[in-house]
Amino acid sequence: MAAPLICPSILASDFARLGEEVAALERAGADWVHVDVMDGHFVPNLTIGPDVVKALRPHTSLPFDVHLMVAPVDPWLEAYRAAGADVLSVHPESGPHLHRTLGRIRDLGAKAGVVFNPGTPLSILEEVVDLVDLVLIMSVNPGFGGQKFIDSALNKIGRARAILDAAGSPAHLQVDGGVVAANAGACVAAGADALVAGSFVFKGGPDAYAANIAALKSAA
Ligand code: DX5
Ligand code: ZN
Repeated sequence: MAAPLICPSILASDFARLGEEVAALERAGADWVHVDVMDGHFVPNLTIGPDVVKALRPHTSLPFDVHLMVAPVDPWLEAYRAAGADVLSVHPESGPHLHRTLGRIRDLGAKAGVVFNPGTPLSILEEVVDLVDLVLIMSVNPGFGGQKFIDSALNKIGRARAILDAAGSPAHLQVDGGVVAANAGACVAAGADALVAGSFVFKGGPDAYAANIAALKSAA
């Protein structure tokens, strides 16, 4: 099995030193930078606006994987793309026309992602599978880092893998929330090829990032 993409969530980084943090992630072997955007409405937390993404862009050449937990989401797509987002992922609940939203993201030249909360039915994926470059399975309810991995996500990853394979889709299958070395192998065995991890990557400070990322890759 190929090593999964490791996508550290900067939600767990030192927000006073964000530029240095993304540069440190690149040196430590991260593949993508996962940016959790929260609006205090769709989820009960408030985080990173497009100007912050724009300010971070010169600090790393890694792709920016922007997870939009914002409703309505459509008015924000262009601003995050212009700020330097490479992947824009949206929740089906964050707008009335998911199909149109995903098409719009691709029109902007970004990769389009669709995100499934623990309570969101995966059947939606069958309707938009040709429009997505990434499927993100949430293994926590979104809003905060440091939560415990919900084990039923593994079954959902397996079902998403089956839908993607049946459609011949090359889309990435990503998992987000409570990912640690102890469950990374099970995520990849179930079919994930990209792991988001916040708390696990950032624990121990910058000197530990490379070992933490390596631990996730080797566990998988
Ligand atoms: C939750 C976010 C996740 C989360 C990951 O809403 O989407 O990216 O911050 O953090 P950990 O790995 O600490 O669960
Ligand atoms: Zn996320």
